[in-house]
Amino acid sequence: MKQELMTIVSQKNIAPSIYELVLTGELVNEMHTPGQFLHIRVPREDLLLRRPISLAEINHDAGTCTIIYRVEGDGTACFSQMASGEQLDVMGPLGNGFDLDAVSAGDTVFIIGGGIGVPPLYELGRQLKEKQAQLVFMLGFASKEVSFYEDKFKELGNVFISTDDGSYGTHGHVGVLMAQAAVDYQEPTAVYACGATGLLRAVEARYLEHPHAYLSLEARMACGMGACYACICQSATDETKNKKVCDEGPVFKTGEVII
Ligand code: FES
Repeated sequence: MKQELMTIVSQKNIAPSIYELVLTGELVNEMHTPGQFLHIRVPREDLLLRRPISLAEINHDAGTCTIIYRVEGDGTACFSQMASGEQLDVMGPLGNGFDLDAVSAGDTVFIIGGGIGVPPLYELGRQLKEKQAQLVFMLGFASKEVSFYEDKFKELGNVFISTDDGSYGTHGHVGVLMAQAAVDYQEPTAVYACGATGLLRAVEARYLEHPHAYLSLEARMACGMGACYACICQSATDETKNKKVCDEGPVFKTGEVII
């Protein structure tokens, strides 16, 4: 983990309240694992806590990384006002990302995401595609209006979309897509998921016993590096133990923590 003033290359509003921010700096050389996150200081004196935002893309050739975030409060609203050339104080990369070791060429992999949990799955997909895995993306959004990156995911594999209001793709939540994929595809070698608690529980229920099923959790964070216990969740195997999402996660195996 390092800290740097990274420079904004570009910022784009890709859906209502959702922004894609490209950053450049030496820190990109440290970024390798999908599912890790950056801890970014809000450039406002009265907002003390950094905001954790996952890496959506790492581009070592260009020396850039991309994050995608939703404006949910003053901190992210502040980020959204920034323009290319301005700088952000970034710590990272932090956390344990997705484990890709089990996947080999030709393997079927299910990648399941919802809403603002979708961005880290893009870099994950890019790296799994490099391994020549067969990727099946199941992505859920509240509506067509707030969906994003469909075309980019389609460059990596098969993409199925669901929307809560039925305005695009399959009407309903991602569980409907998961049930269909279980019929249409062979048992996946690995399963990766990131999204709201309901989505993670649905994935866990279906793949609890799977040897390579991984869930990326969201949590409120303060320090982002294992020192403050703001982000703890409970171990599923030992009720006397807690796990720190920022440090031991955000990616856990199914059955590892209580979600
Ligand atoms: Fe401080 Fe996780 S945010 S321990």
